[in-house]
Amino acid sequence: MMKKTVIRGTGKAIPSRLVTNNDLTKMMDTSDEWIQQRTGIKQRYWVPEGEIMGASDLGLEASHKALEKAGWKPEDIDFIIFATLSPDIFFPGSGCLLQTKLGLKSTPALDIRQQCTGFLYSLATADAYIKSGLANKILIVGAEVHSSGLDKTTRGRDVAVLFGDGAGAVCVEGVDTDENIGVLASVLHADGKGADALMTELPASRLPDRMALGLEGDEIARYYPVMNGQSVFKTAVRKLPEVTREIFAKTGMTIDDIDLIFPHQANLRINQAYQQFMKIDEAKIFNNIQKYGNTTAASIPIALDEALEQNLIGKQGDTIMFIGFGAGFTWGSVIYRF
Ligand code: UT7
Repeated sequence: MMKKTVIRGTGKAIPSRLVTNNDLTKMMDTSDEWIQQRTGIKQRYWVPEGEIMGASDLGLEASHKALEKAGWKPEDIDFIIFATLSPDIFFPGSGCLLQTKLGLKSTPALDIRQQCTGFLYSLATADAYIKSGLANKILIVGAEVHSSGLDKTTRGRDVAVLFGDGAGAVCVEGVDTDENIGVLASVLHADGKGADALMTELPASRLPDRMALGLEGDEIARYYPVMNGQSVFKTAVRKLPEVTREIFAKTGMTIDDIDLIFPHQANLRINQAYQQFMKIDEAKIFNNIQKYGNTTAASIPIALDEALEQNLIGKQGDTIMFIGFGAGFTWGSVIYRF
């Protein structure tokens, strides 16, 4: 019998402050029409203004829900994997902060810094840890508080309108079985040549003065995420089909074996381009970016939790594919069977 990594419970946390596209027009020169046409996004949720809330706080709420569905107590967790590009503080990692908020004393915690593919890297890592025997009950969290770090002026509008805050959590467990279930295959990639196309530069250890104090005028924008949108878009629509073919070649599966695809929610147009290029039935692709914007490491686990809540998936034998592309560049895919 072989160890298989199965999902025991999922949860999500969405902050309370609803921000519509029209709300954004009060902060910057943009329009509901532009945002919907280019991205499909209608609204997103941000943490309430003035509230002290980091990625680990949203992660905690999502974790409690996932733990409850799994029937686990925090003490049952033997490893935490936390994916975020918006950690609570520069260091230590949000995984450590979440660990203590869960009331745990020595459970190991690992942060994953892979942005939009953070959840894919986390799930593949959890699967490898489970198969190696290093851990058996793992809490995976993807959480982001983008809103406190966005340039909400016209200068930053190309990025600011895209991102939402949120968290998703998944409890996974190793089980001994001959059945072909659980994580069936993972494929991960990175190409650091694309780093400049989507990044937040500061604070930067590579500078003699990490904090770069005394920045003036537009220089302050170095603290905000910057993106070459067209480069990211074009690379994404090339890499997503490529990685799909790669994971199908690895598993001997085809699109007919997949019941539902969960692409990272970066831009509805990217996912539509992927769907049309691959000639995949629209109903086989789960999108919710319209409601949440791009929640980066949280987007796939939030989508998974929603699809489970809606009973779209979860029956024995249901097979799903996670796929994503983002900053790094990083990209990848995981196939999972219930
Ligand atoms: O998860 C992370 C990965 N990120 C992504 O996958 C994002 C990938 N890229 C994209 O989704 C798209 O490139 C964007 C949605 C970011 C931008 O769409 P685009 O069609 O590539 O627009 P653009 O950057 O070429 O800009 C077109 C115009 C520009 O004006 P001019 O130069 O034509 O006069 C921009 O200044 O749209 C302007 N613009 C805006 N207008 C209103 C840029 N942002 C905005 C805005 N509202 N928010």
